[in-house]
Amino acid sequence: MPEIPNSRIRKLRTWVPGKRSSELIGVDENQNTITLIDLASNDYLDLARHPLLIEAARKSLEIDGVGSGGSRFITGSRNIHQRLEKKLAEWLDRETVLLYPSGFQANLAAVLALTDRHTPVICDRLIHHSLLVGVKASGAKLIRFKHNNLSELERLLKKSRQSNPQKKPLVITESLFSMEGTTAPIKEISKLCIKYDSKLLIDEAHAFGVMGPEGRGESFGLKEPKSIISGTFGKAFGSGGAFLATDKITGENLIQNCGAFRYTTALAPPLCASALVALNLIENNPGWGRELKEKSRALRDKLSQIGWQRPLGGGPIISILLGSDESAIDYQKRLEEEGLLTVAIRPPTVPEGKSRLRVIIRRNTPIQAFERLIKVLNNK
Ligand SMILES: Cc1ncc(COP(=O)(O)O)c(C=O)c1O
Repeated sequence: MPEIPNSRIRKLRTWVPGKRSSELIGVDENQNTITLIDLASNDYLDLARHPLLIEAARKSLEIDGVGSGGSRFITGSRNIHQRLEKKLAEWLDRETVLLYPSGFQANLAAVLALTDRHTPVICDRLIHHSLLVGVKASGAKLIRFKHNNLSELERLLKKSRQSNPQKKPLVITESLFSMEGTTAPIKEISKLCIKYDSKLLIDEAHAFGVMGPEGRGESFGLKEPKSIISGTFGKAFGSGGAFLATDKITGENLIQNCGAFRYTTALAPPLCASALVALNLIENNPGWGRELKEKSRALRDKLSQIGWQRPLGGGPIISILLGSDESAIDYQKRLEEEGLLTVAIRPPTVPEGKSRLRVIIRRNTPIQAFERLIKVLNNK
């Protein structure tokens, strides 16, 4: 194992849900029990403990069992898989949706479906690790552009088309960046992909349920080139599992040729059942995303009023840049003493010298949490 400096060593901590959906119970360094307000989980809409999701999972357990017992082509396909795929396809206005056991696996599958080892893959510098693993597995050439930098993307696309006119490049981006909180200029990226006849893969893991029209993601309504949209149920949907949304031909290719779809146990039915309920709740509450963005804007404003650099972006991921690992860990500890749970994000998750606190705003985050956060951050 490579040597890891002390400030980079991660310890696994165990949490128990508290009385309120915004709380987690754990133990501190001295083994005392502590209840903290959770400002770190990606359960943006507070659905993980929603009674309707729990009820749906319970009913599904009784009907379909805990696990599916097989891959989709053997014995694992249940009615609930098909219902969820159909409903997601309608919600996103895409021809085909396919479920995967995790977003990591879905991303791997998506990259492999759109590439071979000759495909130039042009990625935003800050895309998720799972996508990079996919590129590595494909053997394709990885080319990176500066975060959200359209002119660099265009330059690389032009160069790639000139040097290799036969081979369509693949462009990969996230829509809401998980560690930065920034949003990609999806419309412009899509236009460039059309102009340079390239394929497009958009990871909307953090966006679905929150960003875009009524939470349908930043890619909703785009007339893209050949593309795949990736989503997960592990964040705003409050459960687990993931999906890819695409056109019929790409979907059929994923079904027939993609090992990550064919050779894996089908998503556990109770997770599908709760994801379907989450989708109905999101659809019936079209203002949830907007409310979260308003709360996020208020916190960004407050942070800049007390002298911090205004965190980038407009969604519920607030990235507070601190620089050194030590500073990020120090703030994490100070916030914990105030009853707040945040996590210091350090390299290799983020680039060197860019350690930070990542604060997540959720639907039920109590107002006192923001007051306490500002109190600690106001005391530099
Ligand atoms: C941007 C992004 N894509 C994909 C994933 C993977 O999703 P999952 O947790 O469902 O494997 C994550 C989760 O960490 C993520 O942040």
